[in-house]
Amino acid sequence: MNTQHTDQESATGPATGWWTEAVIYQIYPRSFADSDGDGIGDLPGITARLGQLADLGVDAVWLSPFYPSPQADAGYDVADYRGVEPLFGTLDDADKLIADAHAHGLRVIVDLVPNHTSSAHAWFRAALAAAPGSPERGRYVFRDGRGPDGAEPPNDWRSVFGGPAWTRVTDPDGRPGQWYLHLFDTAQPDLNWDSPEVRAEFLDVLRFWLDRGVDGFRVDVAHGLIKQADLADWQEPQEILSGSDAQRPRPPMWDQDGVHEIYREWRRLLDSYDGQRILVAEAWVEPAERLARYVRPDEMHQAFNFEYLLAAWTAPAQYAVITRSLEATDAVGAPTTWVLSNHDVVRHASRLGLPIGVPRPNGIGVGDPQPDAALGLRRARAATLLMLALPGSAYLYQGEELGLPEHTALPDEARQDPTWERSGHTERGRDGCRVPIPWEADAPSYGFGPTDASWLPQPASWAEYARDRQAGTPGSTYEMYRTVLRLRREHDLGRGALRWLASGDEVLHFRTGEVGVLTNFGAAAVPLPEGAELLHASCPLDDGLVPTDATAWYRP
Ligand code: GLC
Repeated sequence: MNTQHTDQESATGPATGWWTEAVIYQIYPRSFADSDGDGIGDLPGITARLGQLADLGVDAVWLSPFYPSPQADAGYDVADYRGVEPLFGTLDDADKLIADAHAHGLRVIVDLVPNHTSSAHAWFRAALAAAPGSPERGRYVFRDGRGPDGAEPPNDWRSVFGGPAWTRVTDPDGRPGQWYLHLFDTAQPDLNWDSPEVRAEFLDVLRFWLDRGVDGFRVDVAHGLIKQADLADWQEPQEILSGSDAQRPRPPMWDQDGVHEIYREWRRLLDSYDGQRILVAEAWVEPAERLARYVRPDEMHQAFNFEYLLAAWTAPAQYAVITRSLEATDAVGAPTTWVLSNHDVVRHASRLGLPIGVPRPNGIGVGDPQPDAALGLRRARAATLLMLALPGSAYLYQGEELGLPEHTALPDEARQDPTWERSGHTERGRDGCRVPIPWEADAPSYGFGPTDASWLPQPASWAEYARDRQAGTPGSTYEMYRTVLRLRREHDLGRGALRWLASGDEVLHFRTGEVGVLTNFGAAAVPLPEGAELLHASCPLDDGLVPTDATAWYRP
């Protein structure tokens, strides 16, 4: 690896605004805090805990969907985009949450799911009742089947959750009818974004929440809305992260150029509102240059950097992904948006405890290779300190500030992610990162709610991770997050330009603003530069040396 001494700065002039360096905390409402004891988290539960998030030191929260939904995919199957699922509360509760968050100085980002609706959405019910070729069916992707009697699906696409991406409907007269496309569960029919009615509807949904005061939208499956017009067969693997690179053709269901026009229109709408309302893309797109197209100046503000999330825990891999990411976003004048965990991936405190180089598992269960918990936590803390020093914005996932691991021993009968069933029990799915989080060690459900109820069982070992055990305890993961979030703000790290110092096969070392950052991936402990004054480290230094799998921030 070469040592670089270049400041990475934007070619087009950097974007400005609160979001360019914000630390944004993802709340998964089902699993954050339960106010009524039914075992499912809710909006009043969140509102009651906002003060604690402000105390942690984050700038904003992003809430996964809380809209009316049959919960076939934990709320990513939306039946009504302008309401609140009764399990989670009421529209008044949402208004209060937004107002209280603002009073605490926290911005609020909500989730928007435009690729598909729930099959319980009024539009889809109308489509089922209507005839082929009708305007009602035109809002979705209905096609005649292939083969004799149309008994074969229209193409060979697979659902991201496993199984075919098409389901055949039964016509009102009881006979087998057309097929509809669902890139996810059968209960999540894909919308047809060539329909002007669909476009108008989502502009109106955006207005509905903007008028209620939200500060932005996380756009679900932002790379999937437009499909290649001919819906051509695709024999290649079709995992969600199969954007494109120079070596292979772009899949016909992901990252089609037509999506950008949609986001330009949304951006114009957001810009017509006061404050700085933002769009963040959930787009599993490679390479970084292709992802950067989503954050061109007239499109979205941020796009999750999943290539970073997926990068191996080695100095060369981390160096490469950081460099590439900064170059790609700098070229369009956008900040990079770093992330290590979310509700779709194995928590990084467990992921980093797996052997380096094994493919990322989609869930871990009894009988699967288990992560090394201590190693995972040690590396997770080092990775977090590295991430929070990088210029740009960063997303945290609820519980990571507690060092919370994946639940890797969930009983299979408790699993709720549709992936488990649809993959024919070959992929455990994402439940292990969605378990309700611990607040108080000695309370029922560890303080998640007033009763023992918890929609996914919590492991017995989670008392030690509870917030009340860690708050005020020097060296705890929680206090590490609080401290570095404060330091990040004081030193304006999100805004800094990164300058690489001597980075090699075992060490990453850079300056950002007036702060030096060193991560040691090697076996031997390494010294900080002479005269360095330690600001914080992910674990105690070893005789003044930075030990293996540790990050230190220092003042030169
Ligand atoms: C996104 C969400 C995921 C959901 C899927 C379908 O990837 O993050 O949780 O299952 O979209 O909406």
